[in-house]
Amino acid sequence: MMHILLGVSSGIAIYKTVDLVSKLRKEKYEIDVVMTENASKLISPSVFSAVGNCKVYNQTFDVNDGWIVHTELSKKTDIFVLAPATVNTIGKIANGIADNLLTTVAAAIPNNTPKIVVPTMNTRMYENKRFQENLKKLKQDGWYIIEPEVGHLACGEIGKGRYPDNMLIIETIKFLTSDKILKNKKVLITAGPTKEAIDPIRFISNNSSGKMGYSLARVAKRLGAYTCLISGPTYLDKPALIDEFIKIESANDMYNEVIKRYNNFDIIIMTAAVADYTPATVSEQKIKKTNKNMNLSLTPTKDILLEIGQKKRKNQILIGFAAETEDIIKYAKEKLLNKNADFIVANNARDVMGKDSTKVYLISKNSVSEFEGSKEEVAEKILKSII
Ligand SMILES: Cc1cc2nc3c(=O)[nH]c(=O)nc-3n(C[C@H](O)[C@H](O)[C@H](O)COP(=O)(O)O)c2cc1C
Repeated sequence: MMHILLGVSSGIAIYKTVDLVSKLRKEKYEIDVVMTENASKLISPSVFSAVGNCKVYNQTFDVNDGWIVHTELSKKTDIFVLAPATVNTIGKIANGIADNLLTTVAAAIPNNTPKIVVPTMNTRMYENKRFQENLKKLKQDGWYIIEPEVGHLACGEIGKGRYPDNMLIIETIKFLTSDKILKNKKVLITAGPTKEAIDPIRFISNNSSGKMGYSLARVAKRLGAYTCLISGPTYLDKPALIDEFIKIESANDMYNEVIKRYNNFDIIIMTAAVADYTPATVSEQKIKKTNKNMNLSLTPTKDILLEIGQKKRKNQILIGFAAETEDIIKYAKEKLLNKNADFIVANNARDVMGKDSTKVYLISKNSVSEFEGSKEEVAEKILKSII
């Protein structure tokens, strides 16, 4: 299990770090917390301990049975996260001062252990020249800096200094602790449904949530790929850290955005549930209700997977998704051949749409593998199997 050492200093955003600990616990990390004494004046160590189901330390000289806190903790740390990081604690660490447990642990952590710092403070403190010099020192020493956000600050002012989203911190932890097996690869992923307009307020769409494609994008980035996600309308947040994120509405938008880019990518994964048909005409005005039957004339949309299958270069890997409700593997094998794809990921549309977990078959010309788990776990298995 990955061991995170969380250093907590006395920034006002400390209450948000309690939520970070809760989220890390749900992600099944092993956590230890080291707090400065000043941090313990803002929030009791008991809160962190209870929420994180973890030990909390704040005394350098609590040596028991020869267990020296700072050296023992630093030995087992896979990644060190300093959040919130005060001007004071950053200044001390940058200059090699070790006068409390947190700064002493920081001094004992090996140079090559990944380290993240999350500075949060009033804007003037952030802009302070000496502070900026100290932050630069940490960067030069290999610390990964998550820059504070701009917005409302606890002091009542508006400016740079806000604590970032905890999901960004967690994604950064995953990014820094994953093997970069997709380094130097560019991955293009499509996700979500499309919306085909009938009139200004009505449309045809489908139940795709986008979760599988967004999971693939997050994992591709973690594994070191340059990652572009083209997404239809979903309720999901942009995956943190990915390189390009393009939102589209219709099947035709998706076609245009994919065709514009696909040639620059090594791996193309078409997860999106793109509409097969679109209304032949879009009414400019809202269609009025009558008591007669109504027929909607539909025309086929462009087949993006087929077109890329025909045009792709030899060293490009093309993966299509097939959501079926019957004869899943049979249809997926036909799709693989018809579209000239390298892989088809097939699943039962009834079981997986909108869910957080999935069961899929990864089908190539010569093999069928079955993967089951959370969409992120399955995304990782797919990405590791195709290269
Ligand atoms: C209510 C309150 C909020 C504070 N918020 C911050 C902050 O967000 N960022 C910061 O750098 N310092 C902040 N400070 C100042 C630090 O707590 C102070 O510099 C302290 O000496 C830092 O100690 P530490 O780094 O050992 O935790 C705050 C102080 C108080 C009283």
